[in-house]
Amino acid sequence: MPATTSVKLNTGAVMPTVGLGTWKSKPGQVEHAVEFALKNGYKHIDTAAGYQNETEVGQGIKASGLPRDQMFLTTKLDNTDQRHPAKALEASLKKLDTTYLDLWLMHWPAPMTKDGQADKGHDWLDTWKAMEDLYLAHPEKLKAIGVSNFSVEYFERLLKVARVVPAVNQIELHPSCPQDDVVEYCQNRGIVMTAYSPLGSDNSPLLKNETVTKIAAKYDVQPANVLISLHANKPMHTVLPKSVTNERILNNAKIIDLTPEEIGELHDIDKTHHFRACHPSWTGFGGLGFPDCK
Ligand code: A2P
Repeated sequence: MPATTSVKLNTGAVMPTVGLGTWKSKPGQVEHAVEFALKNGYKHIDTAAGYQNETEVGQGIKASGLPRDQMFLTTKLDNTDQRHPAKALEASLKKLDTTYLDLWLMHWPAPMTKDGQADKGHDWLDTWKAMEDLYLAHPEKLKAIGVSNFSVEYFERLLKVARVVPAVNQIELHPSCPQDDVVEYCQNRGIVMTAYSPLGSDNSPLLKNETVTKIAAKYDVQPANVLISLHANKPMHTVLPKSVTNERILNNAKIIDLTPEEIGELHDIDKTHHFRACHPSWTGFGGLGFPDCK
């Protein structure tokens, strides 16, 4: 199939395929990155309360001059806010200086205390129920809700009781972490995948991988374009390349069509070069049901 430029959520809303990722984008840099991206064709920005840059992302959005209704904005409920999501939502809206979110995600199914310990006395499923309540009561504030870092095992538990099927599952996805099981599970249920760390995050070996560089040479693009385009070439996928560098932000928006054989070759990389840029064990809840993290 030709690469997509947008996908449709289970709410009927349209989500642009490529968004600017801002994990690790620091205040002082992220304002400009967001402004520059929105002034140069991006219409989708992803942030999180946990990235501690929502205020600056909001400033970048304002500085771009792009009307709010012409972009798709995602933020995430921090692990440390799972006991009080309503308050956390208001704080995110205020920092981002917006009246609504296009998408609000539970960042991890891993409640944590303020001092960063696993909060084993709180159930993330109760957090999801509270997010559903907020979504159903405040359609003017929340256009869609979803999850992030959810494995099949955690989805099985969620979907048994969910009143709202998550619109999106945002997970680490790249050729060294293809996560076929949860991708297939979500696709069968109309849940859109969003790929974070599509390049493999900082200093990624994927940018030098010989399969990636070979395909990049064939199409006369950078390795990053191949890695980003991989997701745009799949149904129901969106992708969040992160950069704070002007030329890279411009470059990363260029999507190419890949052949099924090239997609297969990229997927084979995982057989010999598996890695995660962000292992779920940092949360204190082990592997969170991901088969490669057991
Ligand atoms: P920077 O933000 O300094 O430009 P990911 O999207 O997988 O999280 O990867 C982000 C990392 O990749 C950052 O270190 C970012 O650097 C770098 N990066 C972003 N775009 C490119 C590109 N086109 N070529 C090489 N590195 C890139």
